[in-house]
Amino acid sequence: MYKIPANTVFMGKNLVFVPECHSTNDLALQLCQQRTASEGTVIITANQTAGRGQRGNTWHVAPGKNLTFSCIVKPTFLAIKDQFHLNVVSALALYDYLVEKTTASIRIKWPNDVMVNNKKIAGILIENQLQGNSFASAVIGIGLNMNQEAFSINTATSLYQISNQVYDLNAEFECILHKLEARFLQLKGGKRNTLLADYLSVMYWRHELHTFVANDQTFNGTIVGLDDLGRLRITTPEGERVFGMKEIQYQATGY
Ligand code: BTN
Repeated sequence: MYKIPANTVFMGKNLVFVPECHSTNDLALQLCQQRTASEGTVIITANQTAGRGQRGNTWHVAPGKNLTFSCIVKPTFLAIKDQFHLNVVSALALYDYLVEKTTASIRIKWPNDVMVNNKKIAGILIENQLQGNSFASAVIGIGLNMNQEAFSINTATSLYQISNQVYDLNAEFECILHKLEARFLQLKGGKRNTLLADYLSVMYWRHELHTFVANDQTFNGTIVGLDDLGRLRITTPEGERVFGMKEIQYQATGY
């Protein structure tokens, strides 16, 4: 169903399509463990039956209507403490793709949810394989809602809902792989400052006063940016606070 992209150097050149699987991340992780996968190997399925999300959540979408795939990269040039840059790369790649599809407001909700009109259109699950103190490989799992008409939760959306168009999944997939490769090569080429500036410029809720929850406590604050480890910096009336990935939640607004 999916064809090898013509416009990439390595991303997707080894393309594995499985009509159905539990989780493309699981399949990609297996390949990494067997050490057989070349960099840029991509696993894609039409029906993921046990998709995994961040914080132990599930990722469940209608079969055949969306993009669910996992890309294997080998960021051996990256220190483990800098792993957040893979989130930046992946989220920006989806941003780059979406910005060409819609004039609606697209934002990256830290660390790497992609939001359109305040609703989540894409989720990313990155899983790393380390070798000693460095990266062996990383699996970038992406779920992007494309042609799904309706969702059981009102916090999710799709490109179809935004534009009322049905998309050719194969053509769009090729385009996304190209964007992902371009952002990854930017990271490999040492353009971290550019990547971070791009990320910050489209960050959801940045410079706005909002409500968050941490340690079962609700507080108001304003996202001001990230620290060196990619943690979220929030100014509050009590001073600046810094949060790692599983330490904070955004309080839902009434949409
Ligand atoms: C999240 O927002 O919680 C992350 C969702 C990531 C879902 C994708 S779909 C393809 C890949 N395979 C998985 O099992 N999960 C990721």
